[in-house]
Amino acid sequence: MILASEVVEVYVNYALTKDDTEAINELGVWPGREDISKKVSTKAKSALTRALNKEHRLLPYAIIDMAKGRKAAAVEPEVEIDEEGHVIERKLAGSDDENGDDEDEEVKDMAGVIIQKPSGAKSPSTSGATRGGRGGGGASRVIGIPRKSSLENSGPPKNIGIKGFEFYFPKNYVDLADLEKYDNEVGKYTKGRGQKEMSFCTDCEDSVSMALTVTSALLKNYNIDIKDIGYLSVGTESLVDKSKSIKTSLMRLFKPEENHDIGGVDMKNACYGGTEAIFGAVDWLQANYDTEHRNAIAVLVDIAVYGEKSARSTGGASAIAFLIGPDAPISFEKGLRSYYMEDITDFYKPIGGMASEYPVVNGADSIKAYAQALDECFTAYNKKVLRLLNKERSIEDYVAVMFHCPYYRLIQKAFARLVFKDFLDGRNTNLVGAEKLEQLRNITLEESLNSREFWHDILLSANDLLKEKVEPNVEFNLRLGNSYTASLYTQIIKLIHRISDHEELNGKKALLFSYGSGCASAMFSLTFNLDDEKNRNEYENMRKSALNAAERMESRVRYSPDEYTAIMKDREDLIESEKPIVPHALNNGKFPEIFPNTYYLTHIGENFLRYYAIHT
Ligand code: ACO
Repeated sequence: MILASEVVEVYVNYALTKDDTEAINELGVWPGREDISKKVSTKAKSALTRALNKEHRLLPYAIIDMAKGRKAAAVEPEVEIDEEGHVIERKLAGSDDENGDDEDEEVKDMAGVIIQKPSGAKSPSTSGATRGGRGGGGASRVIGIPRKSSLENSGPPKNIGIKGFEFYFPKNYVDLADLEKYDNEVGKYTKGRGQKEMSFCTDCEDSVSMALTVTSALLKNYNIDIKDIGYLSVGTESLVDKSKSIKTSLMRLFKPEENHDIGGVDMKNACYGGTEAIFGAVDWLQANYDTEHRNAIAVLVDIAVYGEKSARSTGGASAIAFLIGPDAPISFEKGLRSYYMEDITDFYKPIGGMASEYPVVNGADSIKAYAQALDECFTAYNKKVLRLLNKERSIEDYVAVMFHCPYYRLIQKAFARLVFKDFLDGRNTNLVGAEKLEQLRNITLEESLNSREFWHDILLSANDLLKEKVEPNVEFNLRLGNSYTASLYTQIIKLIHRISDHEELNGKKALLFSYGSGCASAMFSLTFNLDDEKNRNEYENMRKSALNAAERMESRVRYSPDEYTAIMKDREDLIESEKPIVPHALNNGKFPEIFPNTYYLTHIGENFLRYYAIHT
């Protein structure tokens, strides 16, 4: 009798995987000849699988020996393999300590920054900001990437899209009912603009710290092998440097495995840059996946702050990191992407004068530019639908319609414009108040913006569809405010958060409109592909991230308008400082409100260099 351990020794000595032995076995099978592997009992096969899992960690698709130490990878995975030799699950090492933070009090982490851990503190639970709230289970499905060494059998990748995400927002918010009272504008921010709360960062968080937080959470919670990332782009308008991209700051997260072969840099154009970061990832995959077999990450991060009162209440802050790859549960419809770009100065952040985070805003111009870009994108998008699909689609055909959302009232109006356009183009004539809409047929953009009657009539006609396609997905927008690049995409997260029935989404489409002042905009669509188990599992992983984000939102700390105003002043002082400076939030005798596993700015040193640590 041969022991399983002896077989494992052969595997180790010859660097074989289970796939290799199956291939060797197949060579000896032809018609009329018995398959000798059938003589091996299921019990013996199981014993061998268990022994291989335990002793021999070379995986079918791995390029590294999984038995390497923690320092060698983002997380040390514990791998389970099924009877067929497929990876079915990776668990974080040490189920008691899902964060794997078993080092001493102050150690260098994989990112080359200080990890600060309170003395004697137990590692935080998974309910923290970045653990992704895996319900304490600590296990998640791995997203496997078959490795191929040549172009043989390679084909163009299909269904490129979203396979995972993490969503971060700061722990601080101001209630807009408080703020409108403080600003002597009762009713304006809540009833008028339809918003509820506004998230904000103290001066110890910036776009780099937020990008580090959300990207490290994505790598960790989705057990992403660092070598499996071939492209990483960042969309932001919250720059901390005019030359160095945030993407390069994120490269410290890829250091443990020394993966420097990652394309992409930052994409910048106001709130639109995130969309271009995603498109960059999608297009990189389209062009390279058949030779690279690696996934991409797009990070969207912004802190929206304003100096002037009316605009100040439309601030916000959040960050999203998306894992993008082929065969995704939510894919981008190829070819169905329209743009509208124009040279406009509706909102900008000029270089020169006093250093400031605040934009110069021509509010009314920005609303007009948004409406124009929307109209133009929709027209161009519908032409592409007709040309590529040989049929028309109306707003009714989408399960959801999502918008860049500075504040809810703006997107109610934006949606009504689309429904009105459908009506004018004959795609949807069955609307309440159709006769009134007919009378508005020849209204110009300029006239429409200032006509109360126009808005009244089109909002009334679109109301039922608004409640079905838009309203259910805006809760995070109402509670975080305008987080610029991430704003549009928080609606996808809300949709995932609220829909657990896969059949409700399977095969359905969502329409998205991205706008960034300046201006750059795009309209495009997504398809939900939930007809197979792999995709449903990936969708469920994303639901866990969404559920965790919703839970975290409830544990934020409410600040008074006075405190908020003082904190904005701290941010101004930090930005304007000519000398090294420690953020006021770290220098006032108490540690700031920060979720666990969040990176933060420890200080700005000589030559304006920024230093970061992670709060565990
Ligand atoms: N009670 C109830 N409703 C009120 C009140 C009140 N006290 N005051 C105003 N409202 C209503 C208004 O009637 C209006 O409703 P309507 O749309 O039905 O007419 C709504 O609240 C919005 O109020 P506005 O007066 O339009 O708001 P404001 O003049 O402050 O301007 C603006 C909004 C220009 C967008 C400003 O917030 C701003 O400059 N923001 C920054 C730029 C911006 O966000 N641009 C949008 C796209 S670009 C980007 O995302 C950066």
